Parts: sequence; C-alpha cells; structure tokens
Amino acid sequence: MEFDYANRLKMLPPYLFAEIEEKVEKKKKEGMDIIDLGIGDPDLPTPRPIVDFIKHELDDPDNHRYPSSAGEADTRRAIARWYKERFNVDIDPNGEVAILIGSKEGLANICRAFVNPGEKVLAPDPAYPVYAQGAALLTDAVPVRFPLLPEKGFLPDMESLPDDARMIYLNYPNNPTGAVCDKTFLLKAHRWCNETNTIFCYDNAYSEMTFDDYVAPSAIEVGHSDGIIEFGSLSKTFNMTGYRIGYAVGDAKLIAGLKKVKSQIDSGAPKFLQRAVTMSLGEYKNGQRPQMLQDNIAVYQERRNVLVNGLRKLGFKVKPPKATFYLWLKVDGPSLEFAETMLNAGIVVTPGIGFGKNGEGYVRMATTQSVERIEEALERMSKVL
Ligand SMILES: Cc1ncc(COP(=O)(O)O)c(C=O)c1O
Repeated sequence: MEFDYANRLKMLPPYLFAEIEEKVEKKKKEGMDIIDLGIGDPDLPTPRPIVDFIKHELDDPDNHRYPSSAGEADTRRAIARWYKERFNVDIDPNGEVAILIGSKEGLANICRAFVNPGEKVLAPDPAYPVYAQGAALLTDAVPVRFPLLPEKGFLPDMESLPDDARMIYLNYPNNPTGAVCDKTFLLKAHRWCNETNTIFCYDNAYSEMTFDDYVAPSAIEVGHSDGIIEFGSLSKTFNMTGYRIGYAVGDAKLIAGLKKVKSQIDSGAPKFLQRAVTMSLGEYKNGQRPQMLQDNIAVYQERRNVLVNGLRKLGFKVKPPKATFYLWLKVDGPSLEFAETMLNAGIVVTPGIGFGKNGEGYVRMATTQSVERIEEALERMSKVL
C-alpha cells in the first residue's frame, strides 16, 4: 500500500529536539554521564499534598467515568475564584473557562476554531514551537514570525506587525528567553489587537514561576474577555507536566469555539485531575502562592543564582531571569555548534535555532537539575570553553 503524509504534515520543519534526543541517547548508551539542562520538564516531584489528594480521588468511582467536555463545574468555579484572588478579575465560570488536557492542546486547538486555511497567524521568533507549527501549520494557516530582540527586552514592536492576521500568540513569562512583561505592555498589545481585529492568545504557562519581587500579570487584567484568550497550566506551577491538565479563560466566544473543537476530538480532562486543580488553586490565600509552591520556587531561584554566577565567572554576560526556569545564553558562533561542544562534555543545552531564526546565537539552559549537577556542568564547561 502506498501512501504519504498529508501536505500539512510535510510543511512541518524537522523536529530538532527529537534529533538532539537521539544524540543524547547514543551518548548515554556509550556510558557517558549526561547532565540534561535541555528540556523544560521539572525534575522535582509534584508536591506531596497534591499526590495524596489524587491518590485518594482515584478511590471514588465517580472519577472513573467520562468527564464533562465543558469542564467540571466545580473546577471552572475554582479557576474563576483563583483569577479573582490572584489577578482581581471577574470571570464567568460558565462561559469564560475551559479545561484543557494541558495548555498545549488548547494553544493548538484555538487556531482550528477561528483561523481559516491561508489566513495569517502571528507567532514570536524565538518561541515555543506550538504556535507556528501545531497551531498555524496544522490548520493550513500561514505562520508569520515576528522578532523578539534583546535590545527590546524580547518584547515585540506591536506597531510594526502586519495588521491583517487572524490571530497573534504572545507568551510572558517567556519560553525560551525568560523575559517578562508588565501591564503597560499587555495594554498596548490588547489595544493593537482591537484596532487590527486580531485575536489575542496569551500563553501564561509560567505566571506562577517568578522570582525576586516580580509578579506576573494576566492579559485578562487589561482587556477583560474582549478578544483575549489566556492559557494556563498546572504543569510548571506544580511540577505536573506528566499529568496533562491546564485551562483557558477569556472571551466567551473564543472559549465556546475552543470547546466546540474539543468536544469533537477529546472527551475532557480526567475528573480526578480537574479536582486536583480545584484543590491546588484553592491553596492560594489572598493571592499569595501556597507554601508548597513557594518551596518549589525557592529551589529554582537558588539554582538560577548558582547558574548565573557560574556563567559570569566563565565570562558570559547574563542577567538573572525574573521568571521561568530558563536561562537564554548568548554564545559565540552557531547555536548548534555550541550545543554539540556541550554535548561532547556531557551537558545538554537546547540550541536557540530550534525556537526560530532569531534564536540563532543563543542556547537555552533549563535549571531542571540539582545545584550539585549545575555546579558539575559549570566545571565541565570551564574545561571545554
Ligand atoms: C510557553 C509554554 N506554553 C505552554 C506549554 C505547555 O504546557 P502544558 O501543555 O504542559 O500545559 C509549555 C511547555 O513547555 C511552554 O513552554
């Protein structure tokens, strides 16, 4: 039987990260000790109270059945309550909240609901690859990348963007650069979206992973449910990447379109995970992160400091990022070559080119290893650079 990939699948660029994974596996098989600072996947376990809660929930047969594809009412209410407490915005739990099987699927599915083949979708460069690929290309839309430049704090120049796109993705705290934004920027972005009739998709997956005195805003704060949809996730917040649970809030029409697509494709996130959302977000008091989360953040902050100080000693000019567990490092020469040198020393870093052409000349390091392993990586770097 002869068949080929559909054209839209052929449009996808080679998945650099899979190629790196292959090389890493090969090195491991050869017996090399690998320090993986490549992948944005927390090494720390999910906080014990959440694990215990989920274990207990599994004993309830109600959790064994199909969930509601609209999202469980209690969970939608818990998310609305959390938005009130954390961002002081009023969300209608009935029309303005969707529950996702991780935010990634929502970021991709929103495109299917509102973008026609051939229409433009604006995606940052560098960026999390889903916006341009899983969302735009797999919807037969046209991804248009716009640069995030260091001299602009990795924020886009909104006025210079094409005004004829259907949708734009923005993401702060940012993967891969670790950059953050303030409400003034979000207000500017929202105004621009309104003027140009562009749907505003805001990826706030790292809103709770912030350091020092920085508190991440929500796009909903600046333009409540007016052409905005914001995506959030428990993945990074509570070290829960493996569970697959996230949410979207915003414009009732955008939420309704997203739910319509999802109702044809999936049958909702498992109920016990939705209940874990209710439980964990319910731990916030007066908008403050619960202790279990503060403990986590303290670990990432210490690792960040160790990595930044170590890199400075090696001669790199780096600023400690105010959010995310990423460090966006400017390197000499092509990012692939730098990553290869690192790999030969047993360190995995992600070449910036994998996030778009403006990522060239950078590598991303994730602080998903212990302080001791980060120190060991710095030691190895000092020998090969
Ligand atoms: C910027 C950004 N958004 C969204 C996601 C997806 O998170 P999840 O699907 O686990 O909720 C990630 C994961 O790495 C990410 O880096």
